[in-house]
Amino acid sequence: MSLNKLFSCIIINVILHRMYKIVRSILFLFDPERVHYFSMNVLKLICKSPFIKKRIQKTFSSPELNPTCVFNLQFSNPVGLGAGFDKNALYLNELESLGFGFVEIGTVTPQPQTGNEKPRLFRLQKDKALINRMGFNNDGAAIIAERMATWRAKDGQHSSLIVGGNIGKYKNTPNEEAWKDYEICFNALHEYVDYFVVNVSSPNTPGLRALQEKDSLQQIFSVLHSSNQKKKQPKPILLKIAPDLNKDQTNEIISLAIESKLDGLIISNTTISRENLLESNEKIKKIGAGGLSGLPLKNKSTEMIDYIHKKSEGKIVIIGSGGIFSGKDAEEKIMAGASLIQVWTGFVYEGPSIVKKINKYLVNNK
Ligand SMILES: Cc1cc2nc3c(=O)[nH]c(=O)nc-3n(C[C@H](O)[C@H](O)[C@H](O)COP(=O)(O)O)c2cc1C
Repeated sequence: MSLNKLFSCIIINVILHRMYKIVRSILFLFDPERVHYFSMNVLKLICKSPFIKKRIQKTFSSPELNPTCVFNLQFSNPVGLGAGFDKNALYLNELESLGFGFVEIGTVTPQPQTGNEKPRLFRLQKDKALINRMGFNNDGAAIIAERMATWRAKDGQHSSLIVGGNIGKYKNTPNEEAWKDYEICFNALHEYVDYFVVNVSSPNTPGLRALQEKDSLQQIFSVLHSSNQKKKQPKPILLKIAPDLNKDQTNEIISLAIESKLDGLIISNTTISRENLLESNEKIKKIGAGGLSGLPLKNKSTEMIDYIHKKSEGKIVIIGSGGIFSGKDAEEKIMAGASLIQVWTGFVYEGPSIVKKINKYLVNNK
């Protein structure tokens, strides 16, 4: 790279970083959930102009790509967006323009549901963290499948974006019948997503995390695997787990993953822990229940990845999630055993250049 080019790259990066800091300080004055939809809708609107969309793609997509083949899928780069950001598959083109190698839609439930009462998303700025108790608000499997079908038929045809389908159970479905909900979502989305994630680890659907117990998981996976085998093109099926499992529970998951031939694990979802936070106890108490994400989750999820990778002797494919804000954080997850990584809270705090920054770091530190 010429000195001129290098110099302009540095300047552009500094401006982008500064600009996002200013934009963020304004956005952070408003309710987090409103800001989420406002920002994404603004991005969608401005991307309607092909000229601006091209500029955005040019600015945010990584020139140094790090293509990765995992579960027989070709990822243009290993940086993905975690579930819950684009629950309803509304922003796939825009997210691809920001450089993501993959996006996980959902959690999708069989019927539409509105989720918990608002407010249900909170910022802990001192901790670079979020607490959410969204409660699987989504448009339901049928509508989301239709939206995905339209995307595949139009923009998706020319896209290299990998789309995962994260599936869950309806809030009132008893756990004994949860497998039926997973099967409904699986069949509805099968034609349109590249891989599936069984989510039994969100803390915001009462009783859901009890499904992480081996017998329940065996039942869900045996139903999904038998449906999968009947399809023309079977899809990889992964399990997303909580970072709060104890050693025995984690060991059970490892043996289940190997015995039931899962295609991989996503480690991890949000935590219910509130340890070592900088925000005041009073504020934390006032926020109440929910899953904590971001920086305070980083080491906990990395340790879990490391433990599972070593204990399974590398036999389990892992997607690392939890507190990734930088290339170094991503590298830590990869060194611990992750093949791909996902961001969520880091995207909110660091802004749209996070994907490019991580990819650049990973390529330069190979
Ligand atoms: C507001 C919000 C909503 C989320 N919704 C879901 C969801 O529906 N399904 C899911 O599996 N994970 C969900 N997550 C968890 C994220 O996908 C991710 O695993 C977690 O936040 C840890 O990553 P992070 O520290 O980078 O945010 C959600 C997270 C946030 C902050």
